Amino acid sequence: MSAALAIADTPEWAALAEHRRALEDRHLRDLLDEPGRLDAMSVDVAGLHLDLAKHRATPETLRLLVALAERAGLPERIEAVFSGERVNVTEDRAVMHVALRAPRGVTLEVDGRDVVPDVHAVLDRVADFADRVRSGEWRGATGRPIRTVVNIGIGGSDLGPAMAAQALRTYVDGPEPRFVSNVDGADLAWTLRDLEPAETLFVVSSKTFTTVETMTNAESAREWLVAALGDDAVPHHVVAVSTNRARVEAFGIDPDNMFGFWDWVGGRYSMDSAIGLSLMVAIGPGRFREMLAGFRAVDEHLRAAPLARNAPVLMGLLGIWYVNFWGSTSHAVLPYAQELGRFPAYLQQLEMESNGKSVTLDGDPVGWSTGPVVWGEAGTNGQHAFYQLLHQGTVVVPADLIGFVRPNHALGHHHDLLVANLVAQAEALARGRTADEVRAAGVPEHLVPHKVFPGDRPTTTILGERLDPHTLGALIALYEHKVLTQACVWGINAFDQWGVELGKELATRIGPELAPDGPPPTDHDPSTADLIGRYRAR
Ligand code: F6P
Repeated sequence: MSAALAIADTPEWAALAEHRRALEDRHLRDLLDEPGRLDAMSVDVAGLHLDLAKHRATPETLRLLVALAERAGLPERIEAVFSGERVNVTEDRAVMHVALRAPRGVTLEVDGRDVVPDVHAVLDRVADFADRVRSGEWRGATGRPIRTVVNIGIGGSDLGPAMAAQALRTYVDGPEPRFVSNVDGADLAWTLRDLEPAETLFVVSSKTFTTVETMTNAESAREWLVAALGDDAVPHHVVAVSTNRARVEAFGIDPDNMFGFWDWVGGRYSMDSAIGLSLMVAIGPGRFREMLAGFRAVDEHLRAAPLARNAPVLMGLLGIWYVNFWGSTSHAVLPYAQELGRFPAYLQQLEMESNGKSVTLDGDPVGWSTGPVVWGEAGTNGQHAFYQLLHQGTVVVPADLIGFVRPNHALGHHHDLLVANLVAQAEALARGRTADEVRAAGVPEHLVPHKVFPGDRPTTTILGERLDPHTLGALIALYEHKVLTQACVWGINAFDQWGVELGKELATRIGPELAPDGPPPTDHDPSTADLIGRYRAR
């Protein structure tokens, strides 16, 4: 029997279940007053302060969760990742995104080969290319410099650089980055509507170079280019990022204009590889390297800090606490930073594609819940939309509130208001407002129940100094390692994504069936056949 299969049968799991019963009647507003709680339930890493005090948990809870992680073999799993073991068992691959930010001189091996020199060789090539585009040395076919870089990719080949380009927009001093992902022609058409082909560079980003959305968008982008500038313009305006050299060549892109990565980098863990090329052109190689250093700081912390003081491990374990012991099915990410508007979407892929699994590493059904739905929106906008449910709904949604002490703009009074809202929301969610307090405010009796806030709603507040490249890298790495922690305890593979395949296969078959003179729709349920028929009759 593997450890993964048995996790819910372990004494550590039982101790947590028992502990949860003991906490049942303790309200967070009382827990918050316990002496020593702040020191015991906060942790700092890479310039980020994590306030864990507003959780339905005590230092004892953390101790029991850490014991569970030890029972699940988390320290060994972390070392297995860093030693290049093939922890992605269903794809028989190592999981080595930590090598993407390892400094020169560090050794990290996959199959006995130190991959860090390979990483730096590509990084240097990408940096050189980015510098040439930024300086105007790299020119379009007509000799004009590049003003816009359009990344064409989807999922992990889009969300990371797109999220980061928005998060770091203050630092963009190169060509404007734009992102096309959806096969919906509206995405490409709208993105290109005001662009000048002679000043546009396309980066076709796809690990596999087979993804239908990306290939379709890349073909149409090439047609748009060729219509304006002719075939010879393509090498000046289209480059590729991929692990699949043969496919890149078959597409007609010069391998000299291809930047590679490796099968040990999962798509959703790839934004700090060459997949970040469009971001690097926008912010420059120096700032990109600052971002890598932020990732690296958290990698080192993951390996060195004891589990009980390990920020990503504690984030992961508290997530497990709510999913497995309080029945939570969703988790909100609420950045109080407009620039982090795409961060929830980025985390949806990182967390849900990784941990949305229902069989263990051995292929047996899990006997416990796994990854929750991750969702969110920038504060304060969310406050005027869905926070009603967070405060007074019947479900408890644990949330991460993310904010920064210093803004990236000069409107300081706006920032004071923003941070006041962040702090206020976390306090209101935790403490609530009792019926007596409502009455004391003079509220008529019939309205009292409507104005009561139950409180006891858990949050992590992540407070950083400023949203800059280093901080962003650290923030992303925190969540990457949170995912690793949870997958280890749940006994699942965080690094495959078989669940995306069935829909792709069916779409490939249904595509031709939609043509009025296409093959007749076969082997569909009546509902699906009817929908196909309606479209076919257009
Ligand atoms: O369909 C899911 C997925 O495979 C993701 O895991 C991946 O990030 C995305 O598609 C894009 O894949 P690629 O980079 O190979 O185009």
